[in-house]
Amino acid sequence: MDKFVIKGGYRLTGEVEISGAKNAGLPLMSACLLTDKECVLEGIPNLKDIETMGKLLTSFGSEIERDKKGNLKIKTVKIKNHEAPYDLVRTMRASVLALGPLVARDGVAKISMPGGCAIGDRPINLHINALKKMGAKIEQSHGYIIATAKRLKGAKIYFDTQTVTGTENIIMAGVLAKGETIIENAAKEPEVVDLVNFLKKMGAKIEGEGTSVIRIEGVDSLGSACHRVIPDRIEAGTYIIATAATCGNVLIKNCEMDHLDALEQKLVEAGVTIQREKNGVRVIGKREIKSVDITTMPYPGFPTDLQAQFMAFMTIAKGLSVIRETIFENRFIHVSELKRMGADITIKDRNAIVKGVEGLNGAPVMVSDLRAGAALVIAGLIAEGETEVLRIYHLDRGYEAMEKKLSKLGAKIKRLKE
Ligand code: EPZ
Repeated sequence: MDKFVIKGGYRLTGEVEISGAKNAGLPLMSACLLTDKECVLEGIPNLKDIETMGKLLTSFGSEIERDKKGNLKIKTVKIKNHEAPYDLVRTMRASVLALGPLVARDGVAKISMPGGCAIGDRPINLHINALKKMGAKIEQSHGYIIATAKRLKGAKIYFDTQTVTGTENIIMAGVLAKGETIIENAAKEPEVVDLVNFLKKMGAKIEGEGTSVIRIEGVDSLGSACHRVIPDRIEAGTYIIATAATCGNVLIKNCEMDHLDALEQKLVEAGVTIQREKNGVRVIGKREIKSVDITTMPYPGFPTDLQAQFMAFMTIAKGLSVIRETIFENRFIHVSELKRMGADITIKDRNAIVKGVEGLNGAPVMVSDLRAGAALVIAGLIAEGETEVLRIYHLDRGYEAMEKKLSKLGAKIKRLKE
């Protein structure tokens, strides 16, 4: 396994290019199962999760290749296998995104239950109940969900909780269903809108994306399409926070700042300068940072996927910051590691109270999940001395060439064998 060794205390300066969005690329790839024509996806990043989704699609019978421009060409003439095996699903929960397309395209899907992960139980009951309402027969046996339907029929679906992949799964189920599907309390994330934009290019009839009510009129078949994935707002947010935390000055390129309104507001409140320039967004940190409170919420609220990174930043702010996590029940695993680096954090239920300290000190720390790992890297960048970040395979799932991008910005970071 690899580790990062970081020597802290260096400001980030220069410019960084943000890659395509992991959490848009995954549903876009899965949506290619809905047609037997070739689709082209541009700007899909080189990440472990993307590679895993590629393996999954190939196992279903898709032909996938990256051309020399890095575009992903996906063609699924026939579904040869309808099963997503446990060994793939357990490494990437987003495999559940194959459920809707497989049932919609071919009337059957056998997906291993993803099981929980470090940040929470991560049930998929909302996905399953919605498919049942659309006429799918659902069995559960030996850890698998088996969904079958002659042809799904449109239904009115109300999600008790806003679910991103649940909304994406049901949109993909609805595009080939008979009749109209209405999703109420739909997720409004930009990644959902990006998926809908791609499906519309394929011939799907959808409206309301980006709002809490999405209507899908089923069609008989979908055609080919070419689509460039949106920039990764969570990767962008991570580099923005890292720049602020190191009191740096960085131009973030290929960044859709309108997808990060909640983060921008909180950073400006803390004293950070964010200015839009012609080819990117400039972030300028400040020595004296004010503590600010955040509460994670579904989009457009403060993203749960930036909670850990923002907490790392708040460890050296002036004052008290209350960080409330409302989406996942166990997303404070990074707290104990930050405390080993000298942070002053107290957890009370879903709240982490962060009291700013003079500075952090480097230490060996362990990554538990993708975004907690990003928080520990940020802590290493600001800590005095050396920080070893272990189990960085979690980071490789969602951050393309992280050590290269950070080194280019002046960070002292090396990838070594553990
Ligand atoms: C997506 O996960 C993202 N992953 C996550 O990013 C992100 O943290 C999450 O949305 C929230 O924004 C991808 O898009 C691939 P949810 P998802 O369904 O869809 C509960 C990262 O770091 N729920 O929106 O799995 C659930 O337990 C990852 O890139 C049910 O109860 O999350 C949670 O409390 C981590 N039943 C809440 O809803 C269900 O059937 C939101 O989860 C589904 C969800």
